[in-house]
Amino acid sequence: MTTDDTPSIRQLLKRAKKSSPDVAGLDPESVPESPMDLFVDWLETAVEGGVTEPQAMTLSTVDHAGTVSARTLLLKDVDDAFWFASSSLSPKGRQIRENPRVALTLYWREQGRQVRILGDAGPGPRETSVADFTARHPDSRAVAIAMPQSTPVDDDNEAQQALDAAKARIADDDEFAPDDWTAFRVVPTCIEFWQATTGRDQVRVRYDRTAPTTWTRSRLWP
Ligand SMILES: Cc1cc2nc3c(=O)[nH]c(=O)nc-3n(C[C@H](O)[C@H](O)[C@H](O)COP(=O)(O)O)c2cc1C
Repeated sequence: MTTDDTPSIRQLLKRAKKSSPDVAGLDPESVPESPMDLFVDWLETAVEGGVTEPQAMTLSTVDHAGTVSARTLLLKDVDDAFWFASSSLSPKGRQIRENPRVALTLYWREQGRQVRILGDAGPGPRETSVADFTARHPDSRAVAIAMPQSTPVDDDNEAQQALDAAKARIADDDEFAPDDWTAFRVVPTCIEFWQATTGRDQVRVRYDRTAPTTWTRSRLWP
C-alpha cells in the first residue's frame, strides 16, 4: 500500500536513471548472411566500445516438467556455437540433460543492443572442459570442487574445511580438473538482434536456421 507521501513503485521507477546508448545502428538490408558473423561483429564493437562485462549472458533452461530457470553465466567462446562452462552436476547441467533446448540472452545497454539466441546445449570435448577449468583462477577452481554447485550450506565449518581441502588439492596438482566441469556448447537455431535507435524505435532482425549453414532473415516489428 502506498500513501500520499509515499512514492509508489511506479514513481520510483520513473526516477530511475535511463541509459543513453551510443547507438551504432543496424541496417537490416546490409546484415551478413550468417548471424555468427553479425554476433562476432557486435561482440567486437561491445568490447572495443568499453561495454562492461559484455560476456555476461542469461542462460534459460527448462526441466522435464517444463519448469523454467534462468541465471547469468559468462560466454567463453564463439565458433559455430556459443560456449559457457559449468558443472554438469548443477541444476542447469541436469536440466540440459533432461531438455537440451535453451535460450541465451545478452544485453549491452551502453550500445542499446540485445541478442536472443535459441539453441541446443550439450557438452563439448573433454579437453576443452579441462582447458577451461585449469585456466581458471586457483581460488575459483577450489570453490568449484569443494562442494557441489547450488547445494545448501548448512554448516559453515564444514564448508570452510571443504574449501581448505580443495585449495590444498589445487595447490598440489595444477592440472587437476574434476569430471563434472564441462564446457557446454549451444548450437543456435534462431538468433535475434535488437538495436535501439536514437528515437524510441527499435530495429529487430531475426535469423532462422533452415539447414546446417543456411539461414533465413526477417525484420520484426518492434
Ligand atoms: C556475472 C556472473 C557470471 C557468472 N558466471 C558463471 C559461469 O560462467 N559459470 C557458472 O557455473 N556460474 C556462473 N555464475 C553463477 C550462476 O549465475 C549460477 O548462480 C550458478 O551457475 C548456479 O546455477 P544453477 O543452480 O542454475 O545450476 C555467474 C554469475 C554471475 C552474476
